[in-house]
Amino acid sequence: MSQKLFNVAVVGATGAVGEQIIGLLEKRDFPINELKLLSSARSAGTRIMFKGKEYTVEEATPDSFKGIEIALFSAGGEVSKLLAPHAVESGAVCIDNTNAFRMDPETPLVVPEVNMDKVSEHKGIIANPNCSTIQLVAALAPLQDRYGISRIIVSTYQAVSGAGTRAIDEMLRQTREALDGHDVIPDILPVGSLPVKHQIAFNAIPQIDKFQDNGYTLEEMKMVRETKKILGDDSIEVTATCVRIPVVYGHSESVYVELKNDYEMEEVRKLIAEAPGVTLVDDPASQLYPLATIAAGKPDVFVGRLRRDLGHARGLNLWIVSDNLLKGAAWNAVQIAEYIAIEME
Ligand SMILES: NC(=O)c1ccc[n+]([C@@H]2O[C@H](COP(=O)([O-])OP(=O)(O)OC[C@H]3O[C@@H](n4cnc5c(N)ncnc54)[C@H](OP(=O)(O)O)[C@@H]3O)[C@@H](O)[C@H]2O)c1
Repeated sequence: MSQKLFNVAVVGATGAVGEQIIGLLEKRDFPINELKLLSSARSAGTRIMFKGKEYTVEEATPDSFKGIEIALFSAGGEVSKLLAPHAVESGAVCIDNTNAFRMDPETPLVVPEVNMDKVSEHKGIIANPNCSTIQLVAALAPLQDRYGISRIIVSTYQAVSGAGTRAIDEMLRQTREALDGHDVIPDILPVGSLPVKHQIAFNAIPQIDKFQDNGYTLEEMKMVRETKKILGDDSIEVTATCVRIPVVYGHSESVYVELKNDYEMEEVRKLIAEAPGVTLVDDPASQLYPLATIAAGKPDVFVGRLRRDLGHARGLNLWIVSDNLLKGAAWNAVQIAEYIAIEME
């Protein structure tokens, strides 16, 4: 029996996430009939190679989706809000990397290793969670299943690639300027609601996305809300502090988690080591623990530095690292696309 081939669109094909999606579709030999690569008018006409063939990027418009069966969106929330409904109307299933539909009760928010069963509830759109949330829940889901989680306190150390290709360029440019003894002129970060910009080279910026009325940033509130939705438990108390650091690829997270039931450290280590898509790297005697440089380019979530809290017997501290462009975005989306493709066969 011949395998069904799909007409696939990648919206945001010229971006940091889009580039990784295209690379993974090629590497995974995704069953593609027609491939449409879409961007804004700025990059329309750009040529991209896929499986030895050159494709020309087109401007994304409401009419771009005729005949498309699977559409992967990573062009910002406004683009998804505008165009995903047209794609659905044309009969496509959309996998959306943006914040546009994540908290919509009708839209499943999916990390395949945690809640792939939710995919079947979709009404045309499946949301990919925020990059920082994906790696957090992938590591903590086995602990939620076994012990229950009452509280999570997470502080992130996030790579500039999380803010797109322009932020990567900005960090590299500023680093050169600083090393050459020139004035550093911030232009892109933080991505917020005000024109104020800060230096990222040799710095740490405690703001990712816009500030909300409650004093938290939107990135922090995404982590709070999405964690509860994916783990299916509104009672978990979540506090996040999200910080941008001058790393190109790979988000790191310092996580304190309070469990509802007593735990043995050996069992926790086993649960994490056996969790799908998670690799335990925790050997202090050899100074081995997860690093962004090790996680970069790999699909897994890496977990280490496991320690019982000194003040709370059911408290556990961990260090969680993953490539924000892969498991945090493109790989998670392609995993969902592969699952849908099998369902649609
Ligand atoms: N980077 C991450 O780690 C990450 C992780 C999870 C989710 N996300 C989300 O994924 C989305 C893209 O992120 P990114 O990091 O890939 O950003 P990026 O590098 O800035 O790329 C943005 C992409 O969107 C396209 N685009 C912008 N405006 C458009 C429009 N009006 N119509 C059609 N296409 C348009 C751009 O095309 P042009 O080349 O024409 O400008 C480019 O292809 C964002 O919503 C982000 O929140 C990112």
